[in-house]
Amino acid sequence: MNTMSISRRKFAQLLGAGAAVAVVRPSLSFAKRTQSIATFLQSGNGIVRLSANENPYGPSPMALKAMTDSFSLACRYPDEHNNVLIDKLAKLNNVGHDQILLGDGSSEILKLGAETFTGKTRGTLVAADPTFEPISQQAAINGAEVVKVPLTASFAHDLPKMLASAKRGLIYVCNPNNPTASITPKNELSEFIGKTPGETMILVDEAYFHYADSPDYESVISLVRDHPNLIVSRTFSKVYGMAGLRCGYCVAQKETLDQLHAHQMWDSVNIMALAAASASLDDPDQVPNGQRLNNEAKTFTIGELAKLGYKTIPCQANFIMFDCKRPVVPLIQALKQRNVQVGRLFPALPNYMRLTMGKKSEMESFLGAFKEVMA
Ligand SMILES: Cc1ncc(COP(=O)(O)O)c(C=O)c1O
Repeated sequence: MNTMSISRRKFAQLLGAGAAVAVVRPSLSFAKRTQSIATFLQSGNGIVRLSANENPYGPSPMALKAMTDSFSLACRYPDEHNNVLIDKLAKLNNVGHDQILLGDGSSEILKLGAETFTGKTRGTLVAADPTFEPISQQAAINGAEVVKVPLTASFAHDLPKMLASAKRGLIYVCNPNNPTASITPKNELSEFIGKTPGETMILVDEAYFHYADSPDYESVISLVRDHPNLIVSRTFSKVYGMAGLRCGYCVAQKETLDQLHAHQMWDSVNIMALAAASASLDDPDQVPNGQRLNNEAKTFTIGELAKLGYKTIPCQANFIMFDCKRPVVPLIQALKQRNVQVGRLFPALPNYMRLTMGKKSEMESFLGAFKEVMA
């Protein structure tokens, strides 16, 4: 019996517990209900999960209410809910309704990008190394050549080399980058977008956009208007705390979205996720609270690691990556034995650990276990 199977079963029990609460005690308030689930997650199963860059505080209370309010709509197809969310996202991003495509998480958008624009005849997939890998895997499945371009010494994308490596196809830029939490400066990125020939597509993944506050960072959504080859993806899985619900989107010109959409399943985002995402956008506290709590956890954890002599890559996300000064794999395993889950090995950086920011108590648990395994 391995730890993963234990954790999956515990999660299933958790879901069962959550469902039982919802059905048996309908009068229990949302705040109490989510608190009981959060308590179970944090302490009930004893596992500290700092491995998947999730938001430990969960969805907005307004999103939770929107979900229960839409229970009775589960029998309906989600067309109207699609439109409501698209309208809100178009307004938020200052683009037209026909410039937004929703996805079953932003993972679906990345998959569509690889399917639509890479392959034996369509062209290469160029990505950084290390970066978020699923799009490269999808491109390889499509028979595309995948070119990996190492990050620069400052952990930014090496955009001139990426551009030189591209043969039509798609260049994937993850900004802020997973797993390094580093950014590619705004001037370099806009210059690169301006220089890239129109037949080469660019997908900029802004999953961690809300956590970046460097003056050197900027979203490239405003550049979509002038660049038909630019796609920008976003997600509700991070600051909106909806990783389990699955909702993401991208912004691009209509003709580009039409090409992506042709590869998409009908109605790929479910009605609960749509209701929750729409409501999240109406909650003025969700984003600033998420940013503040993340910054507090980050400052605390980076400071404690520095006291122990470990240096963190300058960080613009809800996770950090730091140099353990020795191979990370045995450390990951030793932490797992102590019920602390951290990010996996990224082969390009074998001595670095990726660590998601949890609640302060979870970061304290991590630090306690980390000191033990390093002793
Ligand atoms: C950079 C990046 N992009 C996309 C995703 C996928 O997010 P989702 O499919 O949950 O929207 C992740 C998930 O961790 C990620 O790190």
